[in-house]
Amino acid sequence: MIGKTVVALAILAIGAVGMGMAGDDASVGRNASDKFEPVMPVYALMVEQDRHFEKIRNLIRKDQEERFAKLRHAGLALAEMANVNTFHENATEHADYRQWTLDMKADALKLAGFAKESKLDDVKRMAKKINTTCNACHDKYQ
Ligand code: HEC
Repeated sequence: MIGKTVVALAILAIGAVGMGMAGDDASVGRNASDKFEPVMPVYALMVEQDRHFEKIRNLIRKDQEERFAKLRHAGLALAEMANVNTFHENATEHADYRQWTLDMKADALKLAGFAKESKLDDVKRMAKKINTTCNACHDKYQ
């Protein structure tokens, strides 16, 4: 009986300490007003986008182990990079730049979705569409 009470009090104490830490330390957790700030310069982001897009192209060209799982992950990574790009200065200053980042994000997510269903032709179609968006943005901003 006493043993149970001691355990219950110990759990309460741990809970209180945990809550106290979250309340006192501003670096723990996030506030609703926190804005996402990319840490990656656009140039580095592009080098990585290029690497992932090349990987997607290779997976489309050549069958290999875990092909569709790899396509899905590379598609999701590309979508996330486009997502990060929506927060860069160019995107906040120019509507067309922002639209291209959003198009790329949406199409890379679709590509990942088709990869999950092992639909190679649709994956190919999305890769072509993404390539058009890369070029459209580069024509004006690169
Ligand atoms: C919304 C605009 C936008 C989209 C979409 C975009 N890029 Fe870029 N890209 C840029 C800008 C801006 C630069 C110039 C960056 C710099 O020089 O600082 C650039 C530069 C590059 C570079 C040149 C890096 C070098 O070595 O000089 C590569 C490679 C690249 N992008 C690949 C891609 C690929 C691949 C895609 C599509 C999957 C893509 N980008 C989509 C805006 C975009």
